[in-house]
Amino acid sequence: MRVIILDTANQVAQYAADLLLETVRKKSRPVLGLATGSTPISTYQQVINAVQAGQASFKNTTTFNLDEYIGIDDTHPQSYRHFMKHYLFNHIDIDLANTHLPMAASLDETRLVENAQDYENAIQEAGGIDLQLLGIGENGHIGFNEPTSSLRSRTRIKSLSESTIEANKRFFADGEYQPHLALTMGIETILESKHVLLLATGHKKAAAVKAMVEGPLTAMCPASALQQHAKACLVLDQDAAAQLSLKDYYVWCEKQRQELT
Ligand code: F6R
Repeated sequence: MRVIILDTANQVAQYAADLLLETVRKKSRPVLGLATGSTPISTYQQVINAVQAGQASFKNTTTFNLDEYIGIDDTHPQSYRHFMKHYLFNHIDIDLANTHLPMAASLDETRLVENAQDYENAIQEAGGIDLQLLGIGENGHIGFNEPTSSLRSRTRIKSLSESTIEANKRFFADGEYQPHLALTMGIETILESKHVLLLATGHKKAAAVKAMVEGPLTAMCPASALQQHAKACLVLDQDAAAQLSLKDYYVWCEKQRQELT
């Protein structure tokens, strides 16, 4: 795992935006995996700024989001489709037909299982994901792969854990319906991405980051599965990196890399 520790959350966002933009510029048909949540919002803002300044175009880009809530329509203000339109898609030149999230509006299990398989097929047909952006839950989840998720899991129905429901309460108004189920890419689906870029900012993520990087490979910390990925890059601010035992070593490694041309 490559661990990059930057001073501020803003620098983390800039680093991530630069990598997303570089992928989009380099590839003729880029395929990006995207995340929702608070962490990537400022990254998306930096991407919007670059696109609006004419520095990059998303015309040929295809996207696949990690997850979507089950049982709410994708026009619902709490849907992740709505989130992505609000924070990114509506402000860049992407063709909405090329933006994908798991189809999760139905409550019919058979339909949801079919939709999960269709999602896997669509990723394959697009040629796989070039760069997957990830956040991390305080409990170590990636996507909605909660602790004890199979490390071989693929896109499927997941029940959210109590701690995730609690952490995401901040997005919902008092008394507003909060879904407890999601369709999420699986851990193996994520591991098949060519590159993975995980962002973590703030002290609330410090314990999960420590478990992901320096803990055992275990389903109890789904993000630890990234230890198995050949090109996983973690970009952290100082708060999120605070519990890492080998912090000085990671900083040293990055300094050494800069000496290479
Ligand atoms: C979002 C997702 C989640 C979040 C994680 C962190 O699509 O799949 O894994 O990345 O819950 O969320 P924030 O960034 O809100 O702390």
